[in-house]
Amino acid sequence: MTASERAPGRVNLIGEHTDYSGGLVLPIAIQLGITLSFEPADNLELDAPGGERLARAVWEELGRPAGLRGRVEADLPQGAGLGSSGAFEVAVALALCELGGLDVSPLELAQTCQRAEQRALGVPSGILDQAASLLGRSGRALLLDCGTFEHRWVAWPDDVAIVVLDSGQRHWLEASAYGDRRRELEAGDPQRVRHIETETARVRETVAALEHEDMAALGPIFAASHASLRDDYEVSTPALDALVAAALSAGAFAARMTGGGFGGCVVALAEPERAEVVRDVGVRGWVVRPSEGAIRRRTGSTPGRA
Ligand code: GLA
Repeated sequence: MTASERAPGRVNLIGEHTDYSGGLVLPIAIQLGITLSFEPADNLELDAPGGERLARAVWEELGRPAGLRGRVEADLPQGAGLGSSGAFEVAVALALCELGGLDVSPLELAQTCQRAEQRALGVPSGILDQAASLLGRSGRALLLDCGTFEHRWVAWPDDVAIVVLDSGQRHWLEASAYGDRRRELEAGDPQRVRHIETETARVRETVAALEHEDMAALGPIFAASHASLRDDYEVSTPALDALVAAALSAGAFAARMTGGGFGGCVVALAEPERAEVVRDVGVRGWVVRPSEGAIRRRTGSTPGRA
């Protein structure tokens, strides 16, 4: 293989299920990701078990710009709610742009990948995962308005560790109620709407707390987000609720479910010296860092490009 692209997974700090209604999200790209080694070919030949449909959809959405032979390696767990599908789509899209000489802006590319995912998986997912994988920055969280695509980066404090805990429940959005939630929201169901309104306010409160270095404020904000996802949006599970409680008992000062729900992961915040204890609550876990998105990892990419 002659070239490679690496696309990171993501953890959404707050702003859950807000992307597809044009709300605010605050994700980070993480150090775990997907690497695609590739070379030119006549067709699309990818050694990516389970990823063929997604890769083909990305290829179609980009207008089949080039053929590609590729091999995928990942240290990002698949299907755990850490944006593995989005990262895979982004890696494939960047490789195809490279081979086909396409110059697509990061947000256009994120939308292309989102359309590909909707087409391939039949789930009306938002743009959170792809945008985070492309636009993440080291040491910063991405504040994105999914309605206007306006975005900026918010500094993440060095003295707050981010711990991700995997419930082990696989969420498989296709089989889940993700599409139902979106329809209920669009139909104006008061409980679903209330979650979106309160969650949007919580994203703003989180950004304000980060900008004022008021970390103590994050505990109640994360708790309210989790409660709203559990009670108003009804996408949490007893396993996720128990994991949030376990993280808090182990010394985290904030914890909530992250991602689409129905399984997947919990995100917890802790003082760095407590991070390992929180990570060690008995399930698979990672201490993650806000990391460079796929665009800025690229050789020769210019820092200001995003
Ligand atoms: C999944 C989707 C995202 C977003 C989250 C919930 O990860 O892929 O678009 O809707 O759920 O915030």
